[in-house]
Amino acid sequence: MSTYKTGLEYAVQQDLCDELSKYREQFHIPKDENGKNWLYFTGNSLGLQPKSAKTYIDQELKDWANLGVRGHIEATNPWITYHEFLTDSMAKIVGAKPIEVVIMNTLTTNLHLLMVSFYKPTKSKFKIVIESDAFPSDRYAVESQLKFHGFNAEDGVILWKPREGEELLRIEDLETILNKQGDEIALLLIGGVNYYTGQYIDLKKLATLGHAKGCMVGIDLAHGAGNIEPNLHDSKVDFAAWCTYKYLNSGPGSLAGLFVHEKHAFNKDLKRFAGWWNHNKETRFNMRQPFDVMAGAEGWQLSNPPILSMAAIKASLDMFNEVGMGAIRKKSIKLTGYFEYLINKLDNNSIKIITPKNPEERGCQLSIQVKDADKSLHQRLTEVHIITDWREPDVIRCAPVPLYNTFEDVYRMVEKLKEILNE
Ligand SMILES: Cc1ncc(COP(=O)(O)O)c(C=O)c1O
Repeated sequence: MSTYKTGLEYAVQQDLCDELSKYREQFHIPKDENGKNWLYFTGNSLGLQPKSAKTYIDQELKDWANLGVRGHIEATNPWITYHEFLTDSMAKIVGAKPIEVVIMNTLTTNLHLLMVSFYKPTKSKFKIVIESDAFPSDRYAVESQLKFHGFNAEDGVILWKPREGEELLRIEDLETILNKQGDEIALLLIGGVNYYTGQYIDLKKLATLGHAKGCMVGIDLAHGAGNIEPNLHDSKVDFAAWCTYKYLNSGPGSLAGLFVHEKHAFNKDLKRFAGWWNHNKETRFNMRQPFDVMAGAEGWQLSNPPILSMAAIKASLDMFNEVGMGAIRKKSIKLTGYFEYLINKLDNNSIKIITPKNPEERGCQLSIQVKDADKSLHQRLTEVHIITDWREPDVIRCAPVPLYNTFEDVYRMVEKLKEILNE
């Protein structure tokens, strides 16, 4: 039984006793022309800027100005090891061991580099399972991997689809696919939290099912990192990648995360692409050495990384480290539950939430399906500075983010939604 209540008073009261409320002050909240805060519900697309990001970036600019190349060793946070300063916090956020995680490149690039190692097709076992509504970049990536290995993308991609008349995926349908075609499937590449519906798939079940049929299991965790607690290590998935610019608030186009399960950490026989940054760091600067790959996730890096982007990531991860994912998730479940409660109270048949009702099967995003794909609802929300995003064909995605959204934001958003729906 929900204990939520309607009315502004309830929302204000919840904010007053929210232990995370002080973190909102640590973000820049975009404002309208009258200086009034936008109601920002798109942390699922681009997280807001932590005020500390500037300080962290300024530090590196200062060291670069004062030290030039010597900053690699002598900067306050030496650049040569800068990525290592991010590893422990990142590992905690996704439930991994430090050896399993590194920050590098961008999401789609990382998925490709991981498929170089973990997509090992043979003539008879070469197919890749993705969600029917996988993010387009993932679909293009797997199609291009199939082609790269000489297969036809049309034969090689198997779609895990919701049943007729349903929106969400059922794990038993994946099981059926694997029972029927498991001998032909080399890889499952699945969105841990689906970008469109917000459905969070049980990663442990996914890995168990895939491994039972001898498939590798990889996860696109773009909508999961910093949102849910995916426990990547315990789930036993083989690999994962995610961007940091959504729930991890690291800035547009910022670097991505990569996870390789510990069971693969010391396997030097895995095929992979190489550069000087995945070569043994003890001998990297001896030059003229034969390639000697590093253990763990660091063994997938190629290049020395962009420090200014890493500085913004560090600013955000330091905040996550201070708060802890447990507290973030706890508030998130409550805040999104409240959002769902208020929307359901509207009892308006022009909109329908398609995200799972069970909090264990979703993160903070609710996907609101709009009747007749009427985009004007999203336009009207935007006009009154309620920032959500529209995803074709018919969904408005809204994510109340526990670090900076309030119960009052949610209350005001739904009040406006009611007004617009009644116009
Ligand atoms: C689920 C998912 N996968 C992949 C991508 C592509 O990310 P990138 O452009 O950082 O490679 C996105 C971007 O929003 C995404 O949401």
